[in-house]
Amino acid sequence: MIEVHNLTKRFASHTVLENVTCSFVPGKVNLIIGASGSGKTVLMKCIVGLHEPDEGRIIYDGTDFTGLSHKDRKPIQQKIGMLFQSGALFDSMSVKQNVMFPLNMFSNMTYKERVDRIEFCLNRVNLSNVGHLYPAALSGGMKKRVAIARAIANQPKYLFVDEPNSGLDPQTSLVIDHLIKEITEEFNIVTIVNTHDMNTVVESGANILFIHKGKKWFHGTAAELIRSDNKELNDFVFASKMMRSYREKANQ
Ligand SMILES: Nc1ncnc2c1ncn2[C@@H]1O[C@H](COP(=O)(O)OP(=O)(O)OP(=O)(O)O)[C@@H](O)[C@H]1O
Ligand SMILES: [Mg+2]
Repeated sequence: MIEVHNLTKRFASHTVLENVTCSFVPGKVNLIIGASGSGKTVLMKCIVGLHEPDEGRIIYDGTDFTGLSHKDRKPIQQKIGMLFQSGALFDSMSVKQNVMFPLNMFSNMTYKERVDRIEFCLNRVNLSNVGHLYPAALSGGMKKRVAIARAIANQPKYLFVDEPNSGLDPQTSLVIDHLIKEITEEFNIVTIVNTHDMNTVVESGANILFIHKGKKWFHGTAAELIRSDNKELNDFVFASKMMRSYREKANQ
């Protein structure tokens, strides 16, 4: 489990996150939703240690991450897989080399073990035949799947995914959502996904955090979210026509 206690993050005089407290559980896809600029990416970066919070604590399975030196954070960071918003693969590396990269950086595996692991991960995302290709030759959805294979290469206990569906068509988005959910359940990972995608919310929303202007505004399940009378949450969620019809059905 990952716990966030009273997290505040400022950039100069701009308070981006204010006193956010929440927790993220293993084996489930934990979602962070909120308008553009609400602080989702900054929250994720604080949790993985790419930003230092001004106040508050981040606890990984009982260990106070915020209190550790950069060196002592390494064992936890080695268990983190990440897929960032700009999700870039290394263009000058083949698919196999991309997935191999974190293994070269962080694992003590032999070459044979690394090659086997790459094969396993590419198989897992249904891309066993494209290992020799370069990113330029892949579709957007294939690139996302390679990025997922790379993120799980080191068998992470914690997986962070920022906007997995940006730029994808609805069907491909669903494939990516299912894949993230399956991997999370199969390996009992604490997965945190930032998303704008209301399909994702309905499909995988067991634990949803809604951030409004840097503050925790709602924390609950998709069913609770659909029934909530929180105004800002409703304005955000029911801007989507599909979500309004879910609400009407839920209230019948
Ligand atoms: N390194 C930084 N320095 C200064 N301000 C920043 C920095 N990173 C983010 N911000 C500000 O923090 C706020 C929240 O940004 P963030 O990227 O977390 O939004 P978001 O919720 O992820 O939005 P989106 O849905 O568009 O990705 C924004 O006002 C942004 O300008
Ligand atoms: Mg963002």
